[in-house]
Amino acid sequence: MRCLLQRSSKMLVVNRNRSGDSFALSKLGFNELRRSVVTSCRAVLLPRFGGPEVLELRDDVNVPDLKPNEVLVRARAVSVNPLDTRMRAGYGRSLFEPLLPVILGRDISGEVAAVGQAVHSLGVGQEVFGALHPTAVRGTYTDFAILAEEELTPKPESISHVEASAIPFAALTAWRALMSTARIKQGQRVLVVGGGGAVGFSAIQLAVAAGCHVSTTCGTESIDRILAAGADQAVDYTTEDYEVSIKGHFDAVLDTIGVPETERMSINLLKKGGHYMTLQGEAASLTDKYGFALGLPMATGILLQKQFQYRFSHGIEYSWAYMRADPEGLHEIRRLSEVGKLKVPVEKTFPISHVREAHEAKDKRLISGKVVLELD
Ligand SMILES: NC(=O)c1ccc[n+]([C@@H]2O[C@H](COP(=O)([O-])OP(=O)(O)OC[C@H]3O[C@@H](n4cnc5c(N)ncnc54)[C@H](OP(=O)(O)O)[C@@H]3O)[C@@H](O)[C@H]2O)c1
Repeated sequence: MRCLLQRSSKMLVVNRNRSGDSFALSKLGFNELRRSVVTSCRAVLLPRFGGPEVLELRDDVNVPDLKPNEVLVRARAVSVNPLDTRMRAGYGRSLFEPLLPVILGRDISGEVAAVGQAVHSLGVGQEVFGALHPTAVRGTYTDFAILAEEELTPKPESISHVEASAIPFAALTAWRALMSTARIKQGQRVLVVGGGGAVGFSAIQLAVAAGCHVSTTCGTESIDRILAAGADQAVDYTTEDYEVSIKGHFDAVLDTIGVPETERMSINLLKKGGHYMTLQGEAASLTDKYGFALGLPMATGILLQKQFQYRFSHGIEYSWAYMRADPEGLHEIRRLSEVGKLKVPVEKTFPISHVREAHEAKDKRLISGKVVLELD
């Protein structure tokens, strides 16, 4: 495949080798490279909603020009998030259906291949990791992904691309809830419902790093890992009655499960003025069901009604937590990852060509931990 890169007014033609590895541009010293005209590349397309069989790995997917704040990233590893498998099955169809085919994937670790004119913090050849916003249409399951500068940060040398790709989307979701919404502080008590998953485990590590006392519910196999990460209490939801085992009152609860039972338990465990945050907000599902015109006002109504109800009945703050880009959060996530204080364990990797198999394994719950797709 032939790629064209524009350097100032000159055009440079780079011929890809068989492994597709022509973008070792740092070696070529093109740090002033600003705009990419990579004409096409490999990507996993979602042409319609459905099972893993709808995913198509294509060789000739268009790469748009970079906007001034954008970075072209040569992907080395991209992780599979629950959002990817849910989007594939139709979650978010009210937004994505008119835009099909879309490219799935939020997380990425790779190297900068080119930068837009206004990008100053990153240079060509630099190793980076980061995550796209939940509503991005051109995702990261591709050799060349495009992210905004603020969605990326330098990858620590101490972790591999596979390890790095598992972290940002989950950790930024946890950051948004604990740091931006609840604004947790040293000495406070935090409960994470579902601490065994990527977001829950990231939340535990962020709260521990902030000096909080952390309790969690998780499966039997997650207990040792969670206690080793610094949680004070890990209650096995498969064998214990967590309503009995979890004692005291918390300043913040992050509920990654978000079913009525976990919501009721969490609300009752909060101090007055505490924050309950669920990852299972209803905005997308209601919009999918009733369309934007009806679904969005309905979602807003439900949220406001719950906020009012819980403020009145329990004196607590209720919110739906969503992942958002946050340069300050990403910087801290990078710092903690570098020193080994923030990890998301990867259970299995697949080559990107086996993306259907990877999605099937997640759909059928054959693999409970993090799955990462590797690119050549
Ligand atoms: N709103 C947003 O912006 C946003 C962002 C990211 C994720 N999410 C959503 O948040 C959820 C978690 O995402 P994730 O990436 O962390 O998924 P994940 O890595 O697949 O984690 C799921 C974990 O949940 C745990 N679990 C399941 N049932 C449980 C229960 N009844 N009690 C306690 N733990 C339970 C399991 O842990 P054990 O192995 O310990 O059993 C499982 O590993 C997903 O539903 C995802 O769609 C929302």
